[in-house]
Amino acid sequence: MRIRLRKGDLARLRTPLLCVPLHEGEALRGPLVTLDKASGGILAAVLRAGDWTGKLGTHVTLYNPKPAGPRRILLLGVGKEADLDLERIRQVAARAVMRAGELQAREVAILFPAPQKLGDAAMAQALTEGSLLGDYRFDKYKSRNENGATRLESVLLVAVRRVDATVGRGIEEGEILADAVRKARDLVNAPANEVTPTEMARRAQASAEAFGFKCKVLERKEAEKLGMAGLVAVSAGTNQPPQFIILEYEGAGKRAPRFVFVGKGITFDAGGICIKPAPKMDEMKGDMGGGAAVIGAVEAAARLRLPVRVVGLVPCTENLLGGSAYRPGDILRMGNGKTVVVDNTDAEGRLILADALVYAQRYEPAAIVDLATLTGAALIALGQTATAVLGNDRHLIEELLAAGTRCYERLWELPLWEDYEELIRSPIADIRNTGGKNAGTITAAAFLKHFVGATPWAHLDIAGTSYLDKAEGYRPQGGTGVGVRLLIEFLRARAAEDKSDGGRQG
Ligand code: BES
Ligand code: MN
Ligand code: ZN
Repeated sequence: MRIRLRKGDLARLRTPLLCVPLHEGEALRGPLVTLDKASGGILAAVLRAGDWTGKLGTHVTLYNPKPAGPRRILLLGVGKEADLDLERIRQVAARAVMRAGELQAREVAILFPAPQKLGDAAMAQALTEGSLLGDYRFDKYKSRNENGATRLESVLLVAVRRVDATVGRGIEEGEILADAVRKARDLVNAPANEVTPTEMARRAQASAEAFGFKCKVLERKEAEKLGMAGLVAVSAGTNQPPQFIILEYEGAGKRAPRFVFVGKGITFDAGGICIKPAPKMDEMKGDMGGGAAVIGAVEAAARLRLPVRVVGLVPCTENLLGGSAYRPGDILRMGNGKTVVVDNTDAEGRLILADALVYAQRYEPAAIVDLATLTGAALIALGQTATAVLGNDRHLIEELLAAGTRCYERLWELPLWEDYEELIRSPIADIRNTGGKNAGTITAAAFLKHFVGATPWAHLDIAGTSYLDKAEGYRPQGGTGVGVRLLIEFLRARAAEDKSDGGRQG
């Protein structure tokens, strides 16, 4: 789908659906008065009737009785003017494209908002993100599109005033981000018989070739040689070969700080010998949501040409229960020398992440951020609204929290105090891979902490936010692609900060 900016006269715009965002209590002004007059006073009639509140999420579809101009006009409530933010703009755009979908329109026009302190470029980016993310569907396995053949082909952002010259760039950045998020959603939604570890690696490789960053994939032999005991053990129960994906984007000079993003890439989690119950086990096709986000973020960073150095590490395997599967009670010697007793084969994510965290050290990174659908406990604690964040570095956590607020992929911190260490202690090995039934999200993070050394590190548990039971705004049922926009927002802020630091130093 294409997003375009068009300067124009609303009253003469020939389009199947023109969307007009309106604040609470907003009166018709300027171009809207002209549009109202040209369409027989239908807008004024709605406001006069007194049942239009303008509250966020409300909408009214009007049919233009006049032959010229837009066929339909959709009034979209955006809430109080003082509450307007980029998230509301995303939501409004999403509602516009969803309404266009219901009406089977090929095109939708959205009135570009009046000037705001948010800035025109940011608003254009938000409109683009909302449109493209709201229009997402995973329907490749439907023999025929459910609504027949008509699909939305273009979104026009209609400006009735001078807009900033940076709007074009805003649209482009929105497209790049939305594209990466949609690919991440596709990876999560696709069944495990399509997205195998090998297929994950193939897609990462294709992205690297298309967008000019490096991709290397390690296979079982190399993983063994490198002492990746977690990946080797977890992958022992499946015939699918494990893949350790390494992405490198060098968008800044050799002396620029490097960030390593680690993503859990379990393409299907049956639980291993400690098999999961059958209900909802199918959703474990999405247990690579962290890996999908990391691939998406590196791709987006490269396409946006961010002035940063980023490494993406995605250990991929299935967690099945074949004849050579690893067992409860097995003891693994990890790459950093620590021994782990396998308490539960369903706590597999932390084992493969540990390998990646150890591997990350060779880059001497300024920070490591890992993303993983790691614990059901995160879903219990925070629902599908917030991602849990834990780590060993105040500054890094604060930056991630702030980035999450800005892009509305919100995080909530859980404590990672020493006290929790006790829960993963083992009498026969250094640590065990579960911490009992209490504080599941925290004990998982406490486990990971053993593999990061002194590097600033944050862990994001996206078990609740990566996959939705039911659609909400521009987040569809199923895979959300959470993490992609968050990581980019984090990188952008870091790049800006490093630049201004450099400036200060000389
Ligand atoms: N992939 C699951 C966690 C998960 C659960 C993600 C629900 C999304 C939705 C993970 O591998 C797992 O099985 N975790 C166990 C850990 C336990 C055995 C300590 C869990 O959360 O039950
Ligand atoms: Mn598991
Ligand atoms: Zn898992």
